[in-house]
Amino acid sequence: MTLREKILSLKKGKNAVILAHYYQEKEIQEIADFVGDSLELSKKAAESTVDIIVFSGVHFMAETAKLLNPSKTVVLPDLNAGCSLADSCPPKAFKKFIDAHPEHTVITYINCSAEIKAMSDLVCTSSNAIKIIESIPKEKPIIFAPDKNLGKYLAKITGRDFLLWDGSCIVHEAFSIEKLLELHKKHPDAVIIAHPESETHILQTATYIGSTSGMINYVKEHPENKFIVATEAGILYKMQQEAPNTILIPAPSEADNTCACSECAYMRVNTLQKLYDCLKNESPKIEIPETIRENAVLPIQKMLTLSI
Ligand code: 13P
Ligand code: SF4
Repeated sequence: MTLREKILSLKKGKNAVILAHYYQEKEIQEIADFVGDSLELSKKAAESTVDIIVFSGVHFMAETAKLLNPSKTVVLPDLNAGCSLADSCPPKAFKKFIDAHPEHTVITYINCSAEIKAMSDLVCTSSNAIKIIESIPKEKPIIFAPDKNLGKYLAKITGRDFLLWDGSCIVHEAFSIEKLLELHKKHPDAVIIAHPESETHILQTATYIGSTSGMINYVKEHPENKFIVATEAGILYKMQQEAPNTILIPAPSEADNTCACSECAYMRVNTLQKLYDCLKNESPKIEIPETIRENAVLPIQKMLTLSI
């Protein structure tokens, strides 16, 4: 049997589901039962009726699935699949920050740990952030964490009073504005689309800004046949599948000649072999202390209710 056949057979025998993010390797996206953005993956996890969830994404995503399914087994192919954004918000420092601003409503981007979610009033993703912010009374000031780039973008769109945590994503911060403008000069007919974790100068060049699913839908729905795509390069696989006649050009990073900066190193530690191993061994499992879980699940449930 091939590795793929072994995974499919194990999955059936163990009553498991494989959820994957668009930034996963092509082989993983191909075998997954569902591929989506953070919000869609959380919704799938919340609806799931299986015994085992194999979450092929990064740790905070698998943790969200476990928060919503405490009695199920949730496994992640590699526990090293972290996130620079989540890491940029350590719980002790964040607690001090929010304690210093008790009048603020705390909204956190889903790219954070369960401990940070447990201190939050609401959680959001890049696809529902505006809706979540607008659910809060207009006069309330907001602490937004951990992504300062997404936070700046949302503050501008909503006109709300934001206090930002100083976190960022290494992949989206690596895009080079000089190289992007140069590339656009070579392809003046290309439409720039960007994920809102990108820096303001990148977002200012974009015709469309949205979550990974939002970007895929935009490409599908627009007749232009050339796009410069400013987000993690793994998205190009599904985007091209969904819009086969378009020309997709990845946005350039500062150090493109020396590193694969537009690939998220955390996402890419997952492999098909590790996916097979984690399903076979039911390990590594995501475990969350109940004292954290009971508080962390509340802002996620509120987010899901507001996102219907
Ligand atoms: P999406 O919710 O848009 O898929 O974003 C996830 C992510 O980590 C982007 O870097
Ligand atoms: Fe985190 Fe950035 Fe990787 Fe997304 S792309 S998982 S925000 S490090």
